Amino acid sequence: MRIALSTGGGDAPGLNAVIRGAVLAAVSRGWSVYGIQRGYGGLLGNDRVVSLGADEVRGITHVGGTILGTTNRGDPFKWPTPQPDGSIKEVDRSDDILAAFAAHGFDALVTIGGDGSLRIAQKLYEKGLPLVGVPKTIDNDVSGTVMTFGFDTAVSTATDALDKVHSTAESHDRVMVVEVMGRYAGWIALNAGLSGSADVILIPEIPFDIESVCRKIRERDARGRRFSVVVVAEGATSKGGGHVVQASAAPGGMERLGGIAAVVAKEIEVRTGKETRALTLGHLQRGGTPTTFDRLLSLRFGAAAIRCIAGGTFGVMVALTPPTVSFVSLKEALAKPKLVPLDADTILTAREIGVCLGD
Ligand code: F6P
Repeated sequence: MRIALSTGGGDAPGLNAVIRGAVLAAVSRGWSVYGIQRGYGGLLGNDRVVSLGADEVRGITHVGGTILGTTNRGDPFKWPTPQPDGSIKEVDRSDDILAAFAAHGFDALVTIGGDGSLRIAQKLYEKGLPLVGVPKTIDNDVSGTVMTFGFDTAVSTATDALDKVHSTAESHDRVMVVEVMGRYAGWIALNAGLSGSADVILIPEIPFDIESVCRKIRERDARGRRFSVVVVAEGATSKGGGHVVQASAAPGGMERLGGIAAVVAKEIEVRTGKETRALTLGHLQRGGTPTTFDRLLSLRFGAAAIRCIAGGTFGVMVALTPPTVSFVSLKEALAKPKLVPLDADTILTAREIGVCLGD
């Protein structure tokens, strides 16, 4: 068997561990593996396909990023293509992907990606490409799996940052508003906010009322807690308000969220009179060494993808369904994004321990 492997979308800690798990599981079956560099771009035009064996994946389990490179502007169905007049047009290059796949003599593709990349994978599968997906994203917003790899590391990074922010907030009697990633889901904000003892956690699933946030800060003040830590997910919105974006969608890309912490901090300062600072953690959450949990999950996902191909099943995604790893159809997994359910026990826990959720 000749297996192709690609990493697409934003990077996430654990990508290299998935690659290592998949490559070693394939090599042990006597198969060969080829890495497609920089998402599907490696099969479109500038042919960038590299052979991956045990030597190429040695010592990378704990290394952040991806040895194959990635892009979140790599949708072959909407490939950004320069036109003679200098403009950029989105062109459907999916047939070229299938042709390149056949020309290389590949038997199957392991595609490691988040919601966007897996959606592309599903469309390629429907066009006849035999593939298995591996759910990657720090956002944890892919349905069908209890967890995506990369999420646990991002939550750990954000929690660590909150611990540090606490001491400076307390020293200065300030309000610190910390913005975390997560796109339109509040998983990182909620889990890191709880673990990092935030006083207020604002998530996209619960539109917030700024007055309720300020009430919490004033109550703490009255009890002698003259500082507060607010965690806000980048996709959070005020009641009736819209997303705060840094940039609207460029060709082949998505809108770039960001800036809500500054908006919330300003409102808090005006309404409470308390000195307030905003901090955006940004891509820190995507980098660095994966946690033990993510390393193990990634290795399991990589090996499971090859096991799935060996069993002749395609059009599915590996998924964490404790205590085991199983396979769910891509179609089912992509039917709707996985948001934080309002009856999640983490939401209940937050309320029961006195965290303000902004509602
Ligand atoms: O999907 C992962 C993610 O990090 C989101 O949390 C965030 O909104 C987005 O990617 C940032 O993308 P970029 O790397 O293009 O800034």
